[in-house]
Amino acid sequence: MLFDTHAHYDDEAFDGDRDGLLGHLQEAGVGAVVNVGASLLSTRRTLELTERYHFIYGAVGVHPSECRDLKEEDIRWLQSLASKDKVVAIGEIGLDYHWEEPGAPLQKKWFAHQLELAEQVRLPVIVHSRDGAKDTLDILKAWKGREIGGVIHCFSYSREIARECLDMGFYLGIGGVATFKNARRLKEVVEYAPLDRIVLETDCPYLAPEPYRGKRNSSLYLSYVAEAVAALKGVDRELVEDVTWNNGRALYGLS
Ligand code: NI
Repeated sequence: MLFDTHAHYDDEAFDGDRDGLLGHLQEAGVGAVVNVGASLLSTRRTLELTERYHFIYGAVGVHPSECRDLKEEDIRWLQSLASKDKVVAIGEIGLDYHWEEPGAPLQKKWFAHQLELAEQVRLPVIVHSRDGAKDTLDILKAWKGREIGGVIHCFSYSREIARECLDMGFYLGIGGVATFKNARRLKEVVEYAPLDRIVLETDCPYLAPEPYRGKRNSSLYLSYVAEAVAALKGVDRELVEDVTWNNGRALYGLS
């Protein structure tokens, strides 16, 4: 079974066929999905999806690019959701310096606030980090809830940064980029990281793997990522599916 540890099925890209698509996932070998909130609105929609589909779990949180208008009361709202049965993580949260806005100080502030929230409610974190490795590591190292752990989703940094994340106990989220021909740095990370610290993800509708690169992504394509990881590791795809299935369950505390 495949575990898609990071998806955005609330996205409008699925408005035309969401129910049809989600209704097929299990027979296609996708046993569980975590739908990840990126804004207050998508967090609300994530909860609706978890109520509708028994195999969909939810993460609640606000993405760094969406944090400009956040207020303290919004964090309290997120906190009130954390006790729901199918809410399994705080995320996605983090730093995205690819875009200039919102500025780094604001991103750091809400990243730290949501890490604190995760510590309070004892849920793992889903970290989004782009072009900001050093600040991300500094903030995670200072985080008091570090033993709760989490995942660095869509991991995009070097092997050296991977080692630091692994040393802190984080899983690495590996998605469609691992199938791209020019993704040498990520392939090195996949070769380097122990299989029991890797989880598979689509980040759909984004980042479709080869041979669908540039198209709308969905969990139906996650098998291509499993295949790429298996090839890099020199093991069977079934083994990758089994191990990453268990990793996903361990990451999100599903028994
Ligand atoms: Ni995402």
